[in-house]
Amino acid sequence: MAMLTTSFFFFSSFFLLLLSFTSLSSSSSSAINTDAQQLINFKLALPDPSVLKNWEQNQNPCSFNGVKCNETRVSSIDLTSLHLNTNFHLVASQLLTLENLQTLSLQNTNLSGNISLPPGSKCSSYLTSIDLSHNSLSGPLFVLSNLGSCSSLKSLNLSSNLLAFSGKESGGLKLSLESLDLSYNNQISGPNVVPWIVYNGCKDFKVAIFEG
Ligand SMILES: *[C@@H]1O[C@H](CO)[C@@H](O)[C@H](O)[C@H]1NC(C)=O
Ligand SMILES: *[C@@H]1O[C@H](CO)[C@@H](O)[C@H](O)[C@H]1NC(C)=O
Ligand SMILES: *[C@@H]1O[C@H](CO)[C@@H](O)[C@H](O)[C@H]1NC(C)=O
Ligand SMILES: *[C@@H]1O[C@H](CO)[C@@H](O)[C@H](O)[C@H]1NC(C)=O
Repeated sequence: MAMLTTSFFFFSSFFLLLLSFTSLSSSSSSAINTDAQQLINFKLALPDPSVLKNWEQNQNPCSFNGVKCNETRVSSIDLTSLHLNTNFHLVASQLLTLENLQTLSLQNTNLSGNISLPPGSKCSSYLTSIDLSHNSLSGPLFVLSNLGSCSSLKSLNLSSNLLAFSGKESGGLKLSLESLDLSYNNQISGPNVVPWIVYNGCKDFKVAIFEG
């Protein structure tokens, strides 16, 4: 009888353990499915989706070209020099919002539009580095403060774009970056640019490049 009780307890706790493993793995697999779905949405909205070879429905996104994962979540994307030919709006809605994204490099991918996040969307709070150099991003510099919801952002490379400083910007840049590269944006000049960038303090800056 004692033995029976023990084995009953053994079985029931084993069963409970099994149950909790099942719910654990189904919640992490739904998270990776959310990541995969966002990447597929991104691909399908491109003018030429075939530039993202092997980004296929029902495949593990950790095996997509240019994508890296930490454990089971998408943590890094590098699509340097692919012809994405799209608007930053799509990047903001489908990539910046990947919950565990840490680094994003879209250097030389023919991006246009301004740097804004769609209303209501939340940037990954793990994102530390964004490289958007060599694109055609435009708009006034104050739009950069839109990246404020990327709360861990430290490095932002906007070299060689079409950003402009209108002179009407006020309140300063609302990002606490360590590195900001605004070189080769030929409409960023004048005596007020640097004061605007450092308006809210520059204690974190290690590199800030404005000319070129
Ligand atoms: C990977 O993710 C785990 C859990 O979210 C985290 O603790 C760890 O720091 C991450 N590793 C890297 C290299 O970012
Ligand atoms: C860049 O993308 C735009 C669409 O946003 C497209 O019209 C243009 O042809 C592309 N330029 C090159 C060089 O592919
Ligand atoms: C930025 O682009 C969005 C659409 O992508 C547009 O609705 C918005 O007016 C633009 N903002 C500025 C300041 O140009
Ligand atoms: C920004 O990108 C450009 C071109 O891709 C590169 O030459 C430059 O070193 C980068 N800036 C920083 C601060 O890393």
